[in-house]
Amino acid sequence: MMNRRNAIKLAALATVAITSNTRAADPAPAVAPAPVAGNPPPVISRDYKVAELPYAFNALEPFIDEETMKLHHNFHHQSYANNLGIAIGKHMELNHKPAEEMLRHLDQVPEDIRTQVRNHGGGYVNHNIFWKCLTPNALREPIGPFNTALGKQFNLFSGFKEKFSKAALEVFGSGWTWLTMDAEKNLRIESTFNQDSPLSQGRLPLLGIDVWEHAYYLKYHNRRAEYINAFFHVINWKYVVERYEKGTLES
Ligand SMILES: [Fe+2]
Repeated sequence: MMNRRNAIKLAALATVAITSNTRAADPAPAVAPAPVAGNPPPVISRDYKVAELPYAFNALEPFIDEETMKLHHNFHHQSYANNLGIAIGKHMELNHKPAEEMLRHLDQVPEDIRTQVRNHGGGYVNHNIFWKCLTPNALREPIGPFNTALGKQFNLFSGFKEKFSKAALEVFGSGWTWLTMDAEKNLRIESTFNQDSPLSQGRLPLLGIDVWEHAYYLKYHNRRAEYINAFFHVINWKYVVERYEKGTLES
């Protein structure tokens, strides 16, 4: 009988065409819709590239395992990029438009691809941020004015960790928990379902934890709390602070 681990792996592999080379720098090809007789071949935008990991796949061990990182980056994330490219291929006037901009103004995205942009564009952008939120050289907590603001808003860093962890644990089903900032630099903890982005609510995601099962199930099985605790050992606070200090909703 197929166990949960293999089921997740097979589901990941089935989402995109498989290449023999799974290095982060070699994205899998987009999966083109099946051609319809008499119609011209579909157009696929190839402008949406998956960000290369700024560290090795095994660099976050033992907190996040190598196999999860490979599947998550090379297949799950790549699938969102591929499917966003297919959606934008139907409206090439949007080609070269940053996915972040489309998520900020979903109401301006053509209705026939709006759901795809919300889901696959969200998945594409969320994961690009997620990889950068992680590092093998993590500080235990941020420093400087950002840490002061965090402590003031959430009752010290310990209060932030507790509230953020609780929110991530309580996400029902698949989604994300975020530390976000609005245009006035107010900080808040919020969760989004599926691949929805805080950008669509007018807020900038500073830090995000992916709590889809594909992010942790191979190593932690159903113990999401352990994964959340491990996440705090590999947070790239330098990147989070840079986003905070940049002070705009550009991402
Ligand atoms: Fe994910």
